[in-house]
Amino acid sequence: MDQILVRGGRPLNGQIEISGAKNACLTLMPAALLTEEPLELTNAPRLADIEMMTKILVSLGAAVQLSEQGRRITIEAKNFEQTLAHYDLVRKMRASILVLGPILARMGEATVSLPGGCAIGARPVDLHLKGLEAMGAELELKGGYVHAKTNGRLKAAVIEFPFVSVGATENLMMAATLGKGTTVLKNAAREPEIVDLARCLRKMGAEIEGEGTDFIEIEGVDALKGTSHKVIADRIELGTFMLAPAITGGEVELIGGKRRLVSSLIDKLEEADIAVEDTENGLKVRRKNGHIEALELTTEPYPGFPTDLQAQMMALLSIAKGTSKIHEKIFENRFMHAPELMRMGADIEVQGGTAIVRGVEKLRGAPVMATDLRASVGLVLAGLAAEGETQVSRVYHLDRGYENLEAKLAACGADIERVKE
Ligand code: UD1
Repeated sequence: MDQILVRGGRPLNGQIEISGAKNACLTLMPAALLTEEPLELTNAPRLADIEMMTKILVSLGAAVQLSEQGRRITIEAKNFEQTLAHYDLVRKMRASILVLGPILARMGEATVSLPGGCAIGARPVDLHLKGLEAMGAELELKGGYVHAKTNGRLKAAVIEFPFVSVGATENLMMAATLGKGTTVLKNAAREPEIVDLARCLRKMGAEIEGEGTDFIEIEGVDALKGTSHKVIADRIELGTFMLAPAITGGEVELIGGKRRLVSSLIDKLEEADIAVEDTENGLKVRRKNGHIEALELTTEPYPGFPTDLQAQMMALLSIAKGTSKIHEKIFENRFMHAPELMRMGADIEVQGGTAIVRGVEKLRGAPVMATDLRASVGLVLAGLAAEGETQVSRVYHLDRGYENLEAKLAACGADIERVKE
């Protein structure tokens, strides 16, 4: 298994180009199953998770073509060979469950393995399943698989989520596009990736209103058609790289970065005394007065502070002036990076869903272990700021969600390399 070696202590200066959004792409790809015609996605990121979704679609009988070094993905699901998404493929990635709604809506039946993914809490898919049941699907859970069936088309339903779920909103939105009548999703997720999915589905002929609010209406149509769609910029990659100059000092311009995608992060950076400036091509980030101010933050569904930036923010706050508090409200058990940061000299106390981070003057390099995708990049950021060498192992987590991470950081002066174990 590869490791990433970081020799820290260098300020970063330069430009980083932001890739297409992993999480948007992972929901746009299954949308291709809703139509016989090809769906072309441009600005796709080149990531292990995207390869995994490609394999799942191919296993279902879709033809998937990659061009422009994987930036353009064309998916044609003319013929389904099967309606089964196998455990071997699904277990590695929670987003695999997103094929369930589209297969069921188009084919009237689907068998999908219950997913795996990052080890951050229980992460059930009950909201996806309850929603499909409300739309008339008969479900059976057997041997780790969900078997779903409908008698004819899915029917419209009014579904009120008890709490916000990105994936359940996406799955049900896709399923409802081919349902009979108007489905209403209340307390729906408002993430930019949902807005991107709705835009693409509309180009495919779907009737959707209200995306970006918590009330989405979808009027089912008989069939959808193919289209071409550009994947939005990855706001989590953007936020991660915005934190790089914040933690190391220096000044980095994020090309393709848009303020509206990361406004909750920008509010917190302002509080931490980090300046974010709009430029012609994106956003530029630097410290205002040389140090980082402590703060309190709570992770929330969009437009609140994203849980996917919590680990990276903890790395930053570990060298802030004063004591910070981080409340994790989306996932249980998402502080696994805290003990790893403590190996680097951070002073962190976890009390249930709250981490108390007492800022230290300096982090020191150490061998650390990545536990999930965002935790691992948090450790890389900590390594960039630390004195000496940090070895991050289990790098495969990083490859799921960051394209050319080492090259992008090295271009700004980071001393970072990948070594084969
Ligand atoms: C998506 C993102 C992930 C991000 C998360 C929260 C993708 C591919 N992944 O994940 O990067 O961290 O949103 O912003 O887009 N829950 C249930 N039952 C369900 C569904 C969810 O209890 O049926 C719970 C989860 O365990 C979690 C919370 O709801 O505690 C939010 O999960 P959800 O918004 O569904 O996250 P994902 O769509 O899996």
